[in-house]
Amino acid sequence: MTTSHTESTSEQHFAPSEAWDAIAEGYDLHVAPQEVGLANEALRLVGLEPGERLLDVAAGPGGLALPAARLGAQVLATDWSPAMIERFERRVGAEGLMGAEGRVMDCHALDLPDDSFDVTASMFGVMLVPDQATALREMVRVTRPGGRVLVIAYGSPAEIEFLQLFIGALQAVAPDFPGLPDDPPPLEFQISDPDVLLRRLTDAGLRNVRIERTAERPEFASGREMWDWVFFGNPIPGVLVADLSEDQRGQLRDVLDGMVRERAGASGRAVLTNAVNVGIGTTR
Ligand SMILES: C[S@@+](CC[C@H](N)C(=O)[O-])C[C@H]1O[C@@H](n2cnc3c(N)ncnc32)[C@H](O)[C@@H]1O
Repeated sequence: MTTSHTESTSEQHFAPSEAWDAIAEGYDLHVAPQEVGLANEALRLVGLEPGERLLDVAAGPGGLALPAARLGAQVLATDWSPAMIERFERRVGAEGLMGAEGRVMDCHALDLPDDSFDVTASMFGVMLVPDQATALREMVRVTRPGGRVLVIAYGSPAEIEFLQLFIGALQAVAPDFPGLPDDPPPLEFQISDPDVLLRRLTDAGLRNVRIERTAERPEFASGREMWDWVFFGNPIPGVLVADLSEDQRGQLRDVLDGMVRERAGASGRAVLTNAVNVGIGTTR
């Protein structure tokens, strides 16, 4: 693979904070509610206890931070997108959650003192940042000695059903679409290999690192529901379809709808299985 191809792939898979601002409302409405089961499972795996201080890094509108606050943790949710943090704070207010606050912050340089949290976590957040080594070291730095760090990231693209369906639908309307590169993988899949995740957590200074393999299982009744989940979940799919004509976009919607309805069958809801790796380590 040439350097220029590598660079263009990374650029195509990097979204600035404004792009996340633009999808914050949709993320809050269509994506975060589907993450509750996975978030609770990960919080159980990390052994979160009521009263513990939890930092959520690249928290979005609170897919992990809200379930943690509901369990009674003292939560600080951080994200570089002001719109995401605003949505989080709105949810905190609406639910009357105590001890939960949000702050706008870049995960590569956390504006927080050393050793401040019992648990530092990131769900589908540090998995996609360009300087992941720095972001992981920052998570370790702000975690107290003996505290835990939790990283939730997508597993192998081949085991992510939404991606296989979406790329299949895209190729049905744009046969030239080459699919995703695998060497190197796009930023959002840089730690999809559990061995790489384990190595990066260890390199960041963590001990007793373990990787649990699980899945998220979003449910869709129609192609429209899946469309909203895909396009509000990350700015990248919007980039991938930017060159499609209006006609092709309409076709893409129809193909996705057919796929989802066929999959849903008599139950009326298609449940997809997307491989997820949960990495957990301790600071001593
Ligand atoms: C896929 S969303 C995940 C949100 C949330 N953790 C969840 O699982 O619902 C990725 C989030 O990472 C945030 N993000 C991306 N780069 C970041 C950075 N450098 N610093 C802080 N947040 C970042 C985005 O703004 C977005 O809210």
